Amino acid sequence: MKTQVAIIGAGPSGLMLSRYLALHNIESIVIEDRSRDYVQGRIRAGMLESPTVDLLDQIGVGERLHREGLEHDGIYLQIPGQRHHINFKELTGKTVWVYGQTEIQRDLHEACDRAGQEIHYEVSDVRLENLESENPVVHFTDKNGQVQRIDCNAVAGCDGFWGVSRKNIPHAEENSFERVYPFSWLGILANVAPSTDELIYAWHPEGFALNSMRSSTVTRLYLQVDPKDDIANWSDDRCWDELDKRLALPGWTLERGPITDKGILAMRSFVSTKMQYGRLFLAGDAAHTVPPAGAKGLNLAASDVRLLGQTLVALLTEKNEKPAAEYTDRALREVWRATHFSWWMTTMLHTHGDAFDAQLQLSQIKHVINSRSAATDLAENYVGIR
Ligand code: FAD
Ligand code: PHB
Repeated sequence: MKTQVAIIGAGPSGLMLSRYLALHNIESIVIEDRSRDYVQGRIRAGMLESPTVDLLDQIGVGERLHREGLEHDGIYLQIPGQRHHINFKELTGKTVWVYGQTEIQRDLHEACDRAGQEIHYEVSDVRLENLESENPVVHFTDKNGQVQRIDCNAVAGCDGFWGVSRKNIPHAEENSFERVYPFSWLGILANVAPSTDELIYAWHPEGFALNSMRSSTVTRLYLQVDPKDDIANWSDDRCWDELDKRLALPGWTLERGPITDKGILAMRSFVSTKMQYGRLFLAGDAAHTVPPAGAKGLNLAASDVRLLGQTLVALLTEKNEKPAAEYTDRALREVWRATHFSWWMTTMLHTHGDAFDAQLQLSQIKHVINSRSAATDLAENYVGIR
C-alpha cells in the first residue's frame, strides 16, 4: 500500500487527523488493532472545551454535536452543605459541551465512511521502519492474517498510552515524566435523566464525587475509590448510596436508574517530552495522559491533532519543514498547561486521609468560589483558553 500519512490508531486522535488531512487533500491510511465495535463502544470522555468543538466543526463532524450535545455555561463546585456555580460564560465568554466520546467516534466513523477513508481494523504485529528517512514504512498483519506494508511520507502515532509508536522514539522513556495518583475513579453510566443541569464536582471528607451526564436521559457519575479496590465490591445499591452521601445537598435528590456500565479507572499523569522522531509524530494519549478531573484527555488530543494537521500540511504540501521541527515544543506548551490544571483539580478535590491537607483543600475551594480572579483562572483553564 502507498499513502502520504500512515495513521496508527483509530481512536479520536487518529480519525480526527485523517479527516483534517483529507480536507487538506492529504491521503492517509488508518490501522487499528481492535475491532470497530470495540473502538466505537468504549465509554470514556464526555466534556468538550470550545477549541475542540471548533476543530470538530472545522473537520465537518460538528453537526450532530450542535443538535444533540448539551451546551453548559459552567460547572458547580461543592463542599459539604454548599453548592456554587462557576459561570464560565460570564467569566470568559466561552461555554463547554457535553457530548460523549462514543458519539464523536460514531460521527468520525460515519464521516470516514462517506469519504471512503481506508481503515484497517483488527491488525496485529505493527512495526515501523525507516523513520529517519522521507519514506517510512509501516508493516502489519491484517485481520485475514496477510502480511502488509504501507509506504508513506510520514507516520502519525495516534495509538494511545499502550501503543507501539512511542516505543520507536529513541530515549522517549528516559525523557518522560510520570505521576501515578493514589486514588482511582469508579465510573457508572445509568439510564436516568441527570439530576443536575450542569456538572457537580463535589469535595467530600470520604472522597470526591462527580455528577456528569451524557444526554437528557443518560447520567454519568464517578466516585473516588482506593486504587486497590475491586469493582466486585461495588453493588449498584452501594454505588448509589455512596453517591447520595457525597453529593448530598438539602432539598436536592439524586435520581437513581438502571446502571448500564461500571468500571474502575486508574489515574496517572504522563508526559513524553519526545513527540517526534524523524517522520514519526505522536498525538493524543500516545504522548501524554492526564487524570480526568480537569476533563482534558480528549481535548488535549484535539489540540495535538490541530497542530499536527497544520504541521503535516506544511511538510507534505508546502515542503516547509519548519513547523515539523517545532511540533514538539509547540505541542508541549499546551500539554504542560493541561497537565498542571488536571493535577491542580485532582489535588484540590481528592481526599487522602491527611487532615491538614483537607483543610488546605477546603480553603482553596472556598477561594475559587469567593474570588472572581480565582474563579476566572479555573474557568479559563477549563474552557481551554491558553
Ligand atoms: P485512544 O482513545 O487510546 O486511541 C488509541 C487507539 O489506538 C485505540 O483505538 C487503540 O486500540 C489503538 N491502538 C493501540 N495500539 C495499537 C497498535 N499497536 N496498532 C494499532 N492500533 C493501536 N478523558 C476525559 O477527558 N474524561 C474522561 O472521563 C475520560 N475517561 C477515560 C476512561 C478511560 C478508561 C480511558 C482509558 C481514558 C479516559 N479519558 C478520559 C481519556 C480520553 O478518553 C483519551 O484522552 C482519548 O481517548 C485520547 O484519544 P487517542 O485517540 O489519543 O487515544
Ligand atoms: C465525563 O462526563 O465523563 C467527565 C466529565 C468531566 C470530567 C471527567 C469526566 O472532569
